[in-house]
Amino acid sequence: MEKYSQFRDRGSGIAPFFPIPSQPAGIYLPVHVFLFLFKLPLFFTIATAYFVFLQWFPLGSLGKKAILWMILGAPGIWWIDLQIDGVKKGSLAKKHDGRVPEPGSVIASSFTSPIDSLYLAAIFDPIFTVSYPHTRQVQVISLFGAILRALSKPTEYPPKGGKMTDIKTLLAEHPTSIIVVFPECTTTNGRGILPFSPSLLTTPPGTKIFPISLRYTPPDVTTPVPGRYLTFIWNLLSQSTHTIRVRIAEVVYNTSKPSDSNEDSTWASSSRDLMNGDDQDVNEQEQRVIEKVGEALARLGRVKRVGLTVKDKAAFVKAWSKGR
Ligand SMILES: *[C@@H]1O[C@H](CO)[C@@H](O)[C@H](O)[C@H]1NC(C)=O
Repeated sequence: MEKYSQFRDRGSGIAPFFPIPSQPAGIYLPVHVFLFLFKLPLFFTIATAYFVFLQWFPLGSLGKKAILWMILGAPGIWWIDLQIDGVKKGSLAKKHDGRVPEPGSVIASSFTSPIDSLYLAAIFDPIFTVSYPHTRQVQVISLFGAILRALSKPTEYPPKGGKMTDIKTLLAEHPTSIIVVFPECTTTNGRGILPFSPSLLTTPPGTKIFPISLRYTPPDVTTPVPGRYLTFIWNLLSQSTHTIRVRIAEVVYNTSKPSDSNEDSTWASSSRDLMNGDDQDVNEQEQRVIEKVGEALARLGRVKRVGLTVKDKAAFVKAWSKGR
């Protein structure tokens, strides 16, 4: 392991890119094989039926969500432990008003597994986006694209000729949708929160941003290393169940606090001039917004923020595949 020491966060010692192995099956291996063979056809049939045919039919949001729940249910993900900041567990749904994402809001989600997108789609039927570390613009992708994204190589820059937009534009174009952003840009094993893309900064000041943390037990369904499709499917289907722990934080707005003095905004505008409007430069106020969301995700996930970036992950993946 020590040859990978550069891929540990210097401060905390957290290694967010290592795959988390399953518990050794031991004498239960036959049970796991049985579960896998039993669930595979079911899972495969429903998933294929949906992504090849049904998703193109006008099923309505409810119909779509119902099928997505079946896709989640087939491998045994039907236990969800949901907690919302500021709402007591088991309290009336009325109390959730304004504390859960509604149309016209933004979700800033942790990103560890293909199940993230599947779950968010089954609940919110949102629009999924890809963020990149050096640009505020995002790329819209389908649910299937978002699922595959959790298993694909980390990329620092958008594809050449890729259609880019930003959150503000998306919200204006789709006022009845929720927009999902994965501000870490690439997947981790859930043990640390990576530095954020500035993409969230294109959220208008009045729009609610909901940090949402998704954690899995057992955590072997996280996919920090790209391309391990078979391992993922095996881990997902060979165990009796996986549970998702969902935490929704209090809303964050893309504004500096009202207590900010005028001095502050003068600083911001003059520093922006200095920065020459370069897309990747983020001023102090903007940094504060990003930090707030990052801190919320770290708190909800009971992990720390780390300094390792998408670039570090790309280097890790290279070293890791060489090491095998
Ligand atoms: C979001 O907030 C930051 C910091 O206050 C600001 O610089 C940026 O322009 C805001 N974005 C939008 C779309 O208003």
